Amino acid sequence: MPSPLQAWRQFRSIRPEIMFYNAAASTKAAAVPMQKRDFSSAAGSKLPKLPTPDTLQTLRHFLDFAEALESPKEFKQTQKAVYNFMDLETYGLDIGLKLRAEKHNNWLTPWWLNVAYLEARDPLPVVTSPGVNFPKFEYQGQSGQIEHAAKIAQAAVFFYKKIQRNELKPDMAGSAPLDMAQYRLLFGTDRIPRKGKDEIRYGADAETPARHAVVFRNGHAFQMDVVDSNGEPLSIDMLRQQLEEVVHHSEHRHLHALGLMTAEKRDKWAEVRESVARLPSNRKSLERIESALFSIALDGAAQPLKGYTEKDEQARQSLHGSGSECNTLNRWFDKTIQFTIGDNGYCGMCYEHTPAEGPPIAALMDFIMDQFDGRTFIDGGSASGLQPVRRLDFELTDDHKKAIDKAKKRIDAVAEDLEVLTYTFTRFGKNFPKSVKISPDSFIQLAFALAFHRIHGTLAPTYETASLRKFDEGRTENIRSPNLQMAKFVNMMKAGSNRPFTELHDQLHAATKAHKKYTTDCMNGAGMDRHLLAYKLLNAESQNPTTLSLFETPAWKRMAHFQISTSQVPTRHYIPMCFGPSAEDCYGICYNPQERELHFTITTFRHFPSTSSRRFAKELERALNDLRAICVKGAKENSKL
Ligand code: COA
Repeated sequence: MPSPLQAWRQFRSIRPEIMFYNAAASTKAAAVPMQKRDFSSAAGSKLPKLPTPDTLQTLRHFLDFAEALESPKEFKQTQKAVYNFMDLETYGLDIGLKLRAEKHNNWLTPWWLNVAYLEARDPLPVVTSPGVNFPKFEYQGQSGQIEHAAKIAQAAVFFYKKIQRNELKPDMAGSAPLDMAQYRLLFGTDRIPRKGKDEIRYGADAETPARHAVVFRNGHAFQMDVVDSNGEPLSIDMLRQQLEEVVHHSEHRHLHALGLMTAEKRDKWAEVRESVARLPSNRKSLERIESALFSIALDGAAQPLKGYTEKDEQARQSLHGSGSECNTLNRWFDKTIQFTIGDNGYCGMCYEHTPAEGPPIAALMDFIMDQFDGRTFIDGGSASGLQPVRRLDFELTDDHKKAIDKAKKRIDAVAEDLEVLTYTFTRFGKNFPKSVKISPDSFIQLAFALAFHRIHGTLAPTYETASLRKFDEGRTENIRSPNLQMAKFVNMMKAGSNRPFTELHDQLHAATKAHKKYTTDCMNGAGMDRHLLAYKLLNAESQNPTTLSLFETPAWKRMAHFQISTSQVPTRHYIPMCFGPSAEDCYGICYNPQERELHFTITTFRHFPSTSSRRFAKELERALNDLRAICVKGAKENSKL
């Protein structure tokens, strides 16, 4: 068994949105044509094209973010480097980007699919594929498990039908409708491993829409219909009967479940898959799994680790299944939607990130919970054209089995190494920052910066996902922090600085305003990071790629290492999401701010001595309380002046 540190090095997995910051830009980043579909805007009107950002503004942002992290002496060098870069290197790149923007519906998205996802060679769990958790259901044991699997499957099919019928209301950012194309890409989709670059196969492109799901239990796979031949959802009775049959035929644990290979490095899995698929019967089983609308894992018992809660364990289940001796053998990480159904009321989903961001997945989870609340399941009736449950077996060689044994070791080491902590702050939710005229998201990001500084004594380059779905085929930008105002605030909070509340209060407002202003820039397509990515990729694709000086600066090297990687995914029900940190010395934080509570899932790697999810949660609580106190006391003292 490798030590956690060895395992980390072998299995080093980087959050895909972030990995290209460190890697040289790929020269193979040829466009993946994003299948153009006429449903991109459910609002009916065509959404605007993603604009090309302004060079001066991008470089001003660069300087602002660099100044936040650097000493005055270091910053002087960065200023010089940025001026040189602007004078000598940006002209041709900007023209190249404008030409690309004219040719493509969205200049970023085809690149993005390649560099953030398909070309990434690291394993999908635990960094690329997020876990998402349902509120606890009230059941224990097999019959409750089967009933809830049936209900979740039926509710998912209802949602799928709504997407197909274009019945979803458009998501909104304020009054702006968002691109809804990602919804169409969720069902029946699979990321097929290929050497060098994976292939994404969307269910929406299938000639005949799939009618089945794939069910995993004890590592055995089964095909089970969830839609009848008229395209209607199957009743709960029928789903239940089929799931009972699955249970009947899967009593013993599979010693070499092929699904474990989907937790491997992509090139290794691609090699094994290619070899497995040489046998026609294996190819057929693969095709059935890969075309399934979604997967359902009927999981075995999973105990929380000592000192952790059942919710923490639930998050581990949805992220990685807690290892090959537990439930990882029931996962197929290539599948976009994988429901995980515990035997104790804890259920969730692991999702493959290539087709969509968190919000469409969160909307699916919220919808499923609405079905439970409304008890709107269809029972009884008969189905036409139902196919019998079919076992999907694989004939494996000794080499395949050896590869699976290796995959087990890797994922087991990672599952052991990753600390996953769910934490709810209950003193206030979004309501408090709103009451003092501060953006809740900016307030929370400032609390992250303060908590990190109190633990590590430095400021953490921080990644936060911003949606670009206001634009046709939009994906994401990075609301990078700290900005200069946030850095000033955190430095003012240093122990012993004893600054008056009025000063802290004013600086807190300046910091959160600057964060919100940059959020708005990002969401309007005027962020810095994707523009700089475009420079890297244009240069790499040019006939004479050179070394772009900006990316050689110490400032960029520091800014590219995200010690905190975050994402806000709000939901109406209690549905926390989670993902692993982007590198070994980093934190992964997914958060879900609700009106009266703030939910966080914090991940760190145990082998890295100075990070700890538990310690971060403690400091986060302190930071949130301190920010509140500054808002309240500072406002009072200001009013006396
Ligand atoms: N005073 C009072 N209220 C304010 C305020 C202020 N200064 N600023 C914001 N608010 C309010 C908003 O109106 C909103 O109100 P609501 O709760 O009634 O809707 C609420 O506070 C939340 O706003 P805010 O905290 O600023 O964030 P947001 O909801 O605009 O979200 C992002 C910001 C960046 C998270 C979001 O726009 C986004 O891009 N989300 C997608 C992220 C994503 O894709 N994640 C998944 C990655 S896999």
